[in-house]
Amino acid sequence: MVNVHIHQFSSGGVIADAEALAVFQAQWSIYQKLVDTDVLDHKVVARLLHDILVEKFTRPFSFLEIACGDASIARQALDGTRVSHYHGIDMAQPAIDLAAIKLADAPYEVVLDHRDFVDALARRPEPADAVWCGLSIHHLSHDDKAVLMREIRNVVGKEGIFLLYEPVLLPDGDRKHFLKAYRVLVETEWTALTAQEVTDIWHHIETCDFPETSREWIELGHAAGFSQARQIFDGPGGLLGMFRYEP
Ligand SMILES: C[S@@+](CC[C@H](N)C(=O)[O-])C[C@H]1O[C@@H](n2cnc3c(N)ncnc32)[C@H](O)[C@@H]1O
Repeated sequence: MVNVHIHQFSSGGVIADAEALAVFQAQWSIYQKLVDTDVLDHKVVARLLHDILVEKFTRPFSFLEIACGDASIARQALDGTRVSHYHGIDMAQPAIDLAAIKLADAPYEVVLDHRDFVDALARRPEPADAVWCGLSIHHLSHDDKAVLMREIRNVVGKEGIFLLYEPVLLPDGDRKHFLKAYRVLVETEWTALTAQEVTDIWHHIETCDFPETSREWIELGHAAGFSQARQIFDGPGGLLGMFRYEP
């Protein structure tokens, strides 16, 4: 693992989403099943991410992954691109350990920060050409999402790109309607989970997931200073979406 550098940060910063750490430790195996059975459309998302990076960067580029988890999606997406530097941030130590294994033989430099991404982005002076986040910032409040998006806008500079994959509220913006539709998806598609796993993951969704409508995700990008912001992929049931933001 000569190319992988792991940074441990002291807990001086505030953990905005402490629940996520407990959830990771208790529920990563559930999430892993969802990735393996592709019920969240990760394969399409990884391919889209790959294609966009290949098309956009014909020169070496740096890549920042917010809430990297085990970095498996990014690893797939980055293979065959001109990436020269990968930086992943996650608050869960097991995620950092898994990401270090996944990226051990990557042909680019890897830096992994065991850290809260809210704190990391608030204190980040260095730029990145591409920023990516999958299924992680919907835990934040609307206002905290707005702050984070502005910080991401500053990180990508004039030529960069931000790509995001997150849950999406139905156009009426009602969280209760979203949860009802999501529950149907869970019961019909997430059949690899045991009844207990469904109960556990549903508790997390009900208590921690605060999606935005597609329009709001786009407006958050514009408000952050991205001149181009659009949805480029509709995930399962229209309840997830991939967004592309450029200065
Ligand atoms: C659902 S997983 C997504 C992992 C990966 N992005 C993917 O798409 O497969 C959520 C990840 O976000 C991390 N996470 C959640 N909130 C965080 C925060 N405030 N700071 C750092 N990591 C966070 C969790 O530890 C977990 O690894």
